[in-house]
Order: sequence, then C-alpha cells, then structure tokens
Amino acid sequence: MIVLGIESSCDETAVAVLEDHALLSSIVASQIDRHRPFGGVVPEIAAREHLSSIDFIVTQALAESGKKLSDIDLIAVTRGPGLVGSLLVGVTYAKALAFSLDKPLIPVDHVKAHVHGALLGVKRPPSEIFPALSLVVSGGHCNFYHMASPTSFELIGFTLDDSCGECFDKVAKMLGLAYPGGPVIESLAKSGNPSQFPMPRAMSGNRGIRFSYSGLKTHVAGLIASRKESIQSDKIMLADLCAGFQEEALGQIVRMIEKAYDLYPSVRSVLIAGGVAANQRLRDLVQNSRIGGRGLFPAPKYCTDNAAMIAESGRYFYSDAATCRTEDLNWDVYARYPFESEAQ
Ligand code: KG4
Ligand code: ZN
Repeated sequence: MIVLGIESSCDETAVAVLEDHALLSSIVASQIDRHRPFGGVVPEIAAREHLSSIDFIVTQALAESGKKLSDIDLIAVTRGPGLVGSLLVGVTYAKALAFSLDKPLIPVDHVKAHVHGALLGVKRPPSEIFPALSLVVSGGHCNFYHMASPTSFELIGFTLDDSCGECFDKVAKMLGLAYPGGPVIESLAKSGNPSQFPMPRAMSGNRGIRFSYSGLKTHVAGLIASRKESIQSDKIMLADLCAGFQEEALGQIVRMIEKAYDLYPSVRSVLIAGGVAANQRLRDLVQNSRIGGRGLFPAPKYCTDNAAMIAESGRYFYSDAATCRTEDLNWDVYARYPFESEAQ
C-alpha cells in the first residue's frame, strides 16, 4: 500500500510517501525562520505559509518518491490537535485531493502519530512490541499511553500544566536564546555542570503518572532574575544553568517512565517520541534506567514534526478502521483533548 502523508498542524509543512514499511520520501519545510523574530509560532503567519507551500511540497515529495498521484492508495492527513488555521489548510487540501483522485482519506491524530514515528523502519512484528507503553514529549504534550496494539491508546498520564518541550522553549526565551529552545539548551548543557544549579524536583509524591513543569520554569525564572547579567555574560554559568535545568526536565520524564513501568511490568517495550525525544541526554538516561533496552525511540529527525509518522499512523488506523474507537476517525479539527476525563 502506498500512503501519502500530509502534516500541517504547526510550523512545518511536511509531506511523505510510504510504501508498506519503506519510506520513499519525506520532506519537512520548516517555517522557523519566519517565526523566530517573535520567539514562538504566530498562527496567522503559519497558516498563510502552509497555504503558499503545500502544493509545491506534495509535488516535490512525489517526485522524490518516484511515484505519481495515481499510484497513491491512501491519503493520511493530520486532523489535530494543532493550530486551527494551519490544520484547515492541510485537511482541506487532502480532502480535495482525495475527492479528485477518488482515493480513501484517513484523519490522523498528531500526538498518536508521534508514537507511530517510533515504529518507522522497525522490522519486528507488532506482536514483539505490544503491549507497550508510549510517551509523547513534545512542544504541546506530555502524554503517556498504555497500548495493547498499535491503534489502542489508553491515556494513563499527562501534564498538569506546561509540556516538557514548552518548558525548554520558555527557559531558552528567558535566557535570550534562539527558538526552539530544546536543541539550543541541549547543546549548551553539554559543557555544563548540572550540580552547580540544583533544581526543585517536581511530582515526586504518589500522584499517579502526572507531569508538571511550571514550578521548574518559575524556579529558573527566579534564578535568572536574581543574576541576569552574570548568567547571560558568563558562558560557564550559562552552560551550568542549562545543564541543571535539562537534568531535572529530563529526570522527571525518566522517573515517570519507571513509575509507569512499575504499574505495567508486562509491557514489551516503551515507545518514546515527540521533539524532546530527539535529546541525546534523554536517550542516555533512559538506557541507564530500569527499562534499559526496552526503550524505543524514533530516529532523531522523526522525533520532531514530520509527515512520515502521519503516513505510518494513517496506515495503522486504516487497516484497523473496523475495530478502532470512533474518536480515532473523527474529522473535528477544532476538537481538544479531554485529558482528565479520558485518563485513569
Ligand atoms: O514534536 P515537536 O516537533 O512539535 C510538537 O508537536 O509540539 O516538538 C517540538 C518541541 C519544541 O518544544 C522543542 O524545543 C523540543 O521539541 N525539542 C527538544 C529537542 N529538540 C526539539 N527538546 C529538548 N531537546 C532537544 N534536542
Ligand atoms: Zn509534534
């Protein structure tokens, strides 16, 4: 089956062509340079950029894959969550394309698709990977799932406030660093000593699988306010602060992974995806944790937003369409996550 995947939920217009398990092409056109001056994504600019580039990116992805539009068997498009104006560009484009080609179309949940990104190129059959735990740590979410199969997502944990990636971005902004903050902080932290700036440990009580990043963010804001000039002008101090912050931001993730694993000890693997999963320090911490080799990460370039994961996710949901939950096939671009009511 040849799947055309389309992603436009935030600030990347991405298109991929997937033939069964083989990724034939994957193009990610980032708008980051357009948003950087504002320190974050501007929704109106994002939607207009998608509109002007989507058709060109589809043409380019098809050319790179060596396939024609008529070869496509299924179109998969991000339905949400994301910026409404941006989502509408991708969804409307995909609907028109599917209608004109008379091909099936499947809506894809962006957060769940991140999890499927960890399965891209994995040769092992699902029976060797599931039941699994999965965690999406991105700019918008910290969602933890128990999965009996590739399309069964039971939400068992989420953040009470900020997401981990959002916290990286906000701390970077406070330090006058570039957007997105995750890769910049990771790079500065490499030469820093985390013990120079001990951080408060959040969510260490027995409150289930819940994340919280607002306390850590406020603590860093306080440190910066009290020593702003020295932190920004002293490269060693800046590296130490980045290292201290990163260690606790990622440490919280690893503690929650171990907690979830204690609750579901029979899982075969733990899939860890989303932009923050690109962080090498997180990968090392997970490898040295109790779950060790059970951790399964996407290749770094498929951690951040891309359309290969959308095509992969669309393929799973299309083949399980008869048995998956009706919510997983809805087209409500405006829908938001019902976190508390859905989670245990
Ligand atoms: O998954 P993603 O591309 O978009 C969302 O769906 O949100 O995630 C983007 C987030 C940003 O907050 C970015 O700072 C963070 O992932 N990120 C990282 C790293 N690379 C990206 N965070 C920590 N370390 C990284 N290397
Ligand atoms: Zn994402």
